[in-house]
Amino acid sequence: MPLIKIPGMLDPHTHLRDLHWSHKATFASESKAAIAGGYWAVFDMPNTAPATTSAGRLREKLKRIGDSAHCDWGLYFGASQVDNSAEYAQVAARACGLKIYNNATTGDLLIESDAMRERHYRAWRGRGIIAVHAEGETVDSILRLARKFRQPTHFLHISSEYEITALAHAKEEGLPITIGVCPHHLLLTEADLPALSAYGLMKPELKQKRDQQALWRAIQRGVVDVIESDHAPHTIAEKTAAAPPYGVPGLETTLPLMMQAVADGRLPLPLACAMLSRNAQKIWRLNPPPDTYTLVDTDASYVIERETLYTKCGWSPFEGMRVRGKVREVWIRGQKVFDGEQVLSEAGFGRNLFGAGHES
Ligand code: NCD
Ligand code: ZN
Ligand code: ZN
Repeated sequence: MPLIKIPGMLDPHTHLRDLHWSHKATFASESKAAIAGGYWAVFDMPNTAPATTSAGRLREKLKRIGDSAHCDWGLYFGASQVDNSAEYAQVAARACGLKIYNNATTGDLLIESDAMRERHYRAWRGRGIIAVHAEGETVDSILRLARKFRQPTHFLHISSEYEITALAHAKEEGLPITIGVCPHHLLLTEADLPALSAYGLMKPELKQKRDQQALWRAIQRGVVDVIESDHAPHTIAEKTAAAPPYGVPGLETTLPLMMQAVADGRLPLPLACAMLSRNAQKIWRLNPPPDTYTLVDTDASYVIERETLYTKCGWSPFEGMRVRGKVREVWIRGQKVFDGEQVLSEAGFGRNLFGAGHES
């Protein structure tokens, strides 16, 4: 069987939940899902309950994830609409970046005023970069700030032709920006919504075929840096209720979906691997520790089923899809943490890739 070795798979866009949202998912359950999905490390977003918007909240989260994570990790600090930039000096060394929410989504971290966005851009001096949720014309507002402050900015979950075109031009202009795209926007469209119902609801929402085609063209031209899962688990009960929340899980489906795309001739294998590992490592200036890699059997073909998933939410928008590529082994720092069936690392094995962890 053709085994390939990917060094240090890294997903810089996940929502691991925990804290007051432990009914959705926990650092323990989702870090296991990450390992089963092939990942060395995942970065957790700050739109938790409570939100990660003060040094104290970050300290609490660092402690909790430090005690429970099975894989390595980073935590984003959240920009808040009540200016919290005075906290940055304290948190910058221990966070993987600053996250600015510029359009409405899960949680209450929305910043709509350009003046407040600019205050956060002016103040952030972190080791990590600024990562933004920006949709449609909001992308243009953030590009103006990236141009003004030359602050490295990662555009998360880019989903439309309009956005990817604007960002490709900005890259040509030389702005210090990078782009993440999610498997659900590459493989599903709004035409899938009747079949998926709330399991197909996420932010940014599923788009039209022409948007999807624009994303694939950008990938093939090397404009997209990262394939990120935007792993955002909600319970089946929440998803089937009257006002379902936005978000879909993805940690265990991203790698095989991309390997299927490789098998289908939609992108070369080295590019797929780079978008799942090396490119994010470069953006965050990280090197995986020695003996940190994933072995993938690129021939193994199977159908995605909820029964085999580690994620606590227990469903996937890709159920029933045939994919290619089974994770056979994951190694972190010389320790085998996945044997193709079981997660072998203990809770607390994972380390913060930014700073000294919760003791500092
Ligand atoms: C995310 C969540 O549930 O936390 N939801 C989503 O639909 N993507 C938030 C986000 O990434 O915008
Ligand atoms: Zn988002
Ligand atoms: Zn997200």
